[in-house]
Amino acid sequence: MTPPNVGIPLARPQLSEREQELVLEVMRSGRLSLGPMLERFERGFAERLGVAEAVAVSSGTAALHLGVRALGWSRGQEVVTSPFSFVASANCLLYEDVTPVFCDVDPVTLNIDPGAAWEVIGERTAGLLPVDILGYPAALPSLAKIAAEGDLGLLEDACEALGARDAEGVEVGSRGHLASFAFYANKQLTTGEGGMLTTADADLATRLRSERNQGRAPDMSWVEHDRLGFNYRLTEIQAAIGVAQLERLDEMLAARARVAGLYGERLAALDYGAPAGEGDPAGLVLPCPDRGEERRSWFVYAVRLPAGADRDAVVADLAQRGVEAKAYMPSIHLMSHMRERFGFRQGQFPIAEDASARLLALPFFPAIAEQQIDRVCEALAEALRGNWT
Ligand SMILES: Cc1ncc(COP(=O)(O)O)c(C=O)c1O
Repeated sequence: MTPPNVGIPLARPQLSEREQELVLEVMRSGRLSLGPMLERFERGFAERLGVAEAVAVSSGTAALHLGVRALGWSRGQEVVTSPFSFVASANCLLYEDVTPVFCDVDPVTLNIDPGAAWEVIGERTAGLLPVDILGYPAALPSLAKIAAEGDLGLLEDACEALGARDAEGVEVGSRGHLASFAFYANKQLTTGEGGMLTTADADLATRLRSERNQGRAPDMSWVEHDRLGFNYRLTEIQAAIGVAQLERLDEMLAARARVAGLYGERLAALDYGAPAGEGDPAGLVLPCPDRGEERRSWFVYAVRLPAGADRDAVVADLAQRGVEAKAYMPSIHLMSHMRERFGFRQGQFPIAEDASARLLALPFFPAIAEQQIDRVCEALAEALRGNWT
């Protein structure tokens, strides 16, 4: 018989008896959709962020889609966004026939460079869609200023960054402009699948709650569908998991930060490893440290492998050693559907493309043990030895 797989997984949600208790509460109540748990989750989330409104939906992608619609972005308009992101932050524009206009990212934070964003704003630009990539806050104060000066809409993709703070110390999602969050199982807070939109605008929140529910009026009269809507509802069971997770959010964020700290210590001890912005950019580049008031919310722990390392071989080598790792993540402009539609080509956004070619996500979750982190780091050093010339 083959032994059970004792490998170290990439991610694992942290679920407790509290989630079970609240899920059971929902099941015993018999109310499975649009009930009190949804309201409790939304209220708790809004209070936690200190923002007026939080509207829960079925995924981060659904949140982004409703955000695009709420800002009125439509066919013929352009929105400036990051090529280095999860594909949903650009796909949400395509759903409404809006053209994504990419600009390159900052080599240290891997977030949109405001100077590069400014340069691609043109007559057809309707807005900005920055992404807080890998949990590091985008340059929101500068981008919000650009948006205000140019009368542009602003939708922040904070799907990877719940708990992060921007350069002015403001928690991501609480500035008042529309921001989206995601609750897939590897996120800082999970509901299995799920998402949230935050906004300071109560009327907008009413519209979002209607659009997530087939355009129905808030009083739920059966035949009233005031506008085009979708089924983007979050179930009561999902909301129950969210409520329980929210209660422990600070604890879980602190555990993630501790794990990241341990990785940082061990990997910086390798003579070719250093945090982004501090060492050889062609070496092993670790996630950048927080700058000024900015605070990363740790989502994944992804390193840029040394230039010249064979990433696929490193992943295979790590797998042999029982360590799950994943290439992370392709530049959006080079995906086939984007190339075919917009004619993007290799070389347009070199910093994003370099990050895409070199990033590797290592096992990262709050409950990972220190010995497991040691094992991962040792395995990575070994794998690099064999697959880097
Ligand atoms: C940056 C970013 N945007 C959007 C999403 C989409 O969220 P979901 O998978 O919940 O639709 C994700 C999810 O991984 C993400 O990382």
